[in-house]
Amino acid sequence: MPTTEQLKIVIVGHVDHGKSTFVGRLFHDTGSLPEGKLEQLQQVAARRGVPFEWANLMDALQAERDQNITIDTTQIWFQTPKRQYVIIDAPGHKEFLKNMVTGAAHAEAALLLIDAQEGVQENSRRHGYLLHLLGLRQIAVLVNKMDLVAYAQSRFDALETEYRAWLKTIGLEPHVFIPIAARTGDNIASRSPQMPWWHGPTVLETLDRFRVAELPTQQPLRLPIQDVYRFDERRILAGRIESGTVRVGDRLVFHPGGKTSTVRTLERWNVPSRDDAHAGESIGLTLTEQIFVERGAVATREDTPPFELTWFKARVFWLGRQPFRKGRRYKLKLATQEAECEIATIDKVIDASTLATVSRQQNELLVSRHEVAELTLKTRKPVAFDAATDLVATGRFVIVDGYDVAGGGIVMPDHYPRRTSTAEHKSDHLYWSQGKVTHDHRARRHGHAGCVLWLTGLSGSGKSTLAAELERELFNLGKHAYVLDGDNIRHGLNSDLGFSPRDRNENIRRVGEVAKLFADAGFICVTAFISPYRADRDLVRRMMPAGRFIEVYLSAPLEVCEQRDVKGLYAKARAQELQEFTGISAPYEPPIEPELVLRTDQLTVAEAVARLLDRLHLGAEDMAISI
Ligand code: ADX
Repeated sequence: MPTTEQLKIVIVGHVDHGKSTFVGRLFHDTGSLPEGKLEQLQQVAARRGVPFEWANLMDALQAERDQNITIDTTQIWFQTPKRQYVIIDAPGHKEFLKNMVTGAAHAEAALLLIDAQEGVQENSRRHGYLLHLLGLRQIAVLVNKMDLVAYAQSRFDALETEYRAWLKTIGLEPHVFIPIAARTGDNIASRSPQMPWWHGPTVLETLDRFRVAELPTQQPLRLPIQDVYRFDERRILAGRIESGTVRVGDRLVFHPGGKTSTVRTLERWNVPSRDDAHAGESIGLTLTEQIFVERGAVATREDTPPFELTWFKARVFWLGRQPFRKGRRYKLKLATQEAECEIATIDKVIDASTLATVSRQQNELLVSRHEVAELTLKTRKPVAFDAATDLVATGRFVIVDGYDVAGGGIVMPDHYPRRTSTAEHKSDHLYWSQGKVTHDHRARRHGHAGCVLWLTGLSGSGKSTLAAELERELFNLGKHAYVLDGDNIRHGLNSDLGFSPRDRNENIRRVGEVAKLFADAGFICVTAFISPYRADRDLVRRMMPAGRFIEVYLSAPLEVCEQRDVKGLYAKARAQELQEFTGISAPYEPPIEPELVLRTDQLTVAEAVARLLDRLHLGAEDMAISI
């Protein structure tokens, strides 16, 4: 073999636009066919009195591969003097999507076929969009069947202009458009005598000009665990390093969950052992401390964790026959993780072939086949992920409906909270000292459990007012309650913080920690903070034991809050005397699934307090706690 360099490509095109013929021809012209295969098939055709079709060649090869189970049937290869090419999943569009988004097969370049006669079809546009969504940037468009349009330059030029303009609207700029005739081999391996007007490269020249992507060894470590093998006492964790490097002695964190251990050995199959392994390698590893790790965990380093949440924003391409519906549960597969998921909100739906925004009735929350949606997904358990713009392997996912892959997508960037970046331990030598009085003991003494009642909403939505009233009611009922209020805390503990997203994040993190201590001490801790970022509130929710964080959204239209303007701050914000004011010049993200919503523009204070008391279930279950 002249070279070991390999480029993975994908060939996409409308069903009848000549993909099989093209691939057959490509193999023949590069001398990649098994000896005598072509002649054999030509003879078979002659004997049957039917014309030989290049497409049949690929079918015949496929059939042979199917019988030989040791050959991976989803990948076929050919070669040029420069390097080897692997065609990923040439046949099925759906398989292609599945493999592309799961990263099982990641193409680095694409050939997009369109039919010179039929022109740009809906599918051609969809395929373009799909390549864009999957982050493919090395693309050549092959205008096939030029023989059927008399090799006319005008037809080729018109198609190029049309398709190029459309692709540009989605941010794709193909390297080149090439006029070809797959059946006769024009402009594939050699320049066509039929198209003297063409001075551009042939398909093979174009392929050889594409670059092989460098392996992401410099990026943060992401090692999704595929399997855990047990040999006697030893456990070997196996997986493919998607990015980064791992060495013996490295301290690893396994997400979700955050368990840590140290790499004791790296295990390889049939290869001499080494103390380090890099992106692209499939390895096994053993750990010094035995911790329980399962398939799905993602091993990373402490200083570069992934996000670990039960929701994320995504762009999803839907292929399922049944629409993707809010209210229905699906399976999410991201790297080797699987989690039940559902749509939390749909922000936007577009038709992938026209790029037009699809407008739906309010009650029709769904994404149909061949639509792309920007939405928020929520999962039943925490999932470790990255934004696709940062790390591809942990930034893509597929959605399974029943047994079928019905959609694929990428994680969009957002202000996701990082658990360890702010709460990072500055010292390794910390221990948790367990007291002798537990939360349950205190709950029994108080006659109710401690919890955090988290009020969130715009300035002027009634947080402080309701918190103070509720605290008084609880006090009169003999309960232990305490209010943490935004303005007050900012006078003391958080007097060093302003209103930038970062400062607000830190504000809420500290308040969350304090509220958690109050709840542990057995108090009903009522907090009154705007807490405008969903991610920050989520962070606090995750600090708390299940069921002890009650998120209450005080919902009132901005106009109402502005009219109230208790502190005169809205007026100042409008006059631009106050910067980054929530609702005016800074965002507010309402909760997706709060425990309670109170329309404070419609309820009286007494009614709202009554509902809060109601939600605390003070009478029943909490009193029943016994130890
Ligand atoms: S949060 O966004 O970090 O949760 P927090 O609830 O602590 O805010 O503080 C909000 C209070 O700070 C408001 O009630 C208001 O009195 C005051 N404030 C001063 N500047 C701003 C601002 N730019 N945006 C919002 N609130 C502000």
